[in-house]
Parts: sequence; structure tokens; C-alpha cells
Amino acid sequence: MNFIENESEQKLRGGYYTPEDLATYITKWVANSSPKSILEPSCGDGVFIKAIHNIGYGKKSHFYGFELLDSEANKAKERADELKVKSTIKCIDFLDHAIQVMSSGKTEYDAVVGNPPFIRYQYLPKESQEKSEIIFKSEHLKFTKHTNAWVPFVIAAIKVLKPGGRLGMILPAEIIHVMHAQSLRTYLGEQCSKLPELCSNRTKLFLS
Ligand SMILES: C[S@@+](CC[C@H](N)C(=O)[O-])C[C@H]1O[C@@H](n2cnc3c(N)ncnc32)[C@H](O)[C@@H]1O
Repeated sequence: MNFIENESEQKLRGGYYTPEDLATYITKWVANSSPKSILEPSCGDGVFIKAIHNIGYGKKSHFYGFELLDSEANKAKERADELKVKSTIKCIDFLDHAIQVMSSGKTEYDAVVGNPPFIRYQYLPKESQEKSEIIFKSEHLKFTKHTNAWVPFVIAAIKVLKPGGRLGMILPAEIIHVMHAQSLRTYLGEQCSKLPELCSNRTKLFLS
């Protein structure tokens, strides 16, 4: 068994970034629905901003990025400025934003892209554990302490997505089989009209 004291800073924030070609592939699929607003719940240093630029979509939509770590949020802001991608990057916890939007009953974004943090529930600070539980419960989903940070991120991202919007995220292959993701699997089946690509290995999840 691993202890939190022995884990790296990178692991504790789920800081494993997406290769640019994969981010570009996902962004191209999402942009096919002509979104005016694109959410990235945990934008890191902004590879999806680069992806939006790569497909020539930087002026056609507004990118909303959230990132907990200020050094990474600043890199994302710099990238967006340099590449002239219209954007708002906030250095805050996405779960706080999501809870606020969810309680307003509104949906905010035409599309979602990203690669949410993979962090064991036991490694999350107490307040993040509580926010995860709030998100499960607000959607009447069964909550378990075996969950992982990426699960409430996906639930919240679906919830703030406008009807008809697209969500393209890189998720761990365990979405297909782990018990703790059962309520998420059911939720996706209920909320999404299409699950175009759900592959094993390194799972790509494309939803609309
Ligand atoms: C898997 S990385 C992905 C970064 C970037 N989206 C990419 O695809 O390369 C996850 C990021 O989530 C950030 N993060 C972790 N918890 C967060 C939270 N509650 N709100 C916003 N960002 C968070 C981490 O600092 C990390 O940069």
C-alpha cells in the first residue's frame, strides 16, 4: 500500500499532460459541432489551447480554462495570448465553479475538452473529497469513497454542457469496468444521445 507522504507532487495533482497530436484530434472532433464556447476543466499548461490554434479555431470560439496550480494557469494564459486564442483562464478549483453553475440550474458551455486529473480519493484534501460527494449527490448518483478525482470531473462537465453539446475527454480505461464508476456509466447512458467512441486501453471518450 502506498502512503501520501511517498507520492510525488505530480501524482498528487494528477499532472500528466496530453500529447499535442491527441489533443488536436479530440479538438477537431469537438469543433465539428461549431461550439462558440469551449470548457477545459483542468487545463494544465494549455495543450488544448494549442490544439484550438492548430485547427484554426482560436477566433471562432471562446476557451474557458480552469487550473488549480497558478504556475500552470499562467503558462496557459501566456500560450493563449501568444497564439491569439480568445480565452478566460481561471486559477481556481473547477469543482467550485461546477457546483456554482449546477446550483444555478444553468448550462454554460457548448463543448468540453480535456484530460481530468487522476487522483485517488484518499489522496484528495478533505474539502475536495466533500466537493466530489456534493457533485455525486446533486445528480442523485451513488457515492463511494473508492472513487477517483476524474469521476466527479466528468459528471460536472456533463452537467455544465448545453444540450446537444459535445464532450471529448481522455479518460482512464477503468471507466469500462471499475465498480466505483458504475453510477457514472449509468449516468452517461442516460444523459448522452451518443457514445461514438469508447475504446479500451487508453480510453477516449467522445460524447454528444
Ligand atoms: C491530467 S492533467 C491535464 C492537463 C491538461 N488538461 C492536458 O490535457 O495536458 C490534470 C490537471 O488538472 C489540474 N487539477 C487538479 N485538480 C484540479 C481542480 N480541482 N481544478 C482544476 N484543475 C485541477 C492539475 O494541476 C493538472 O494540471
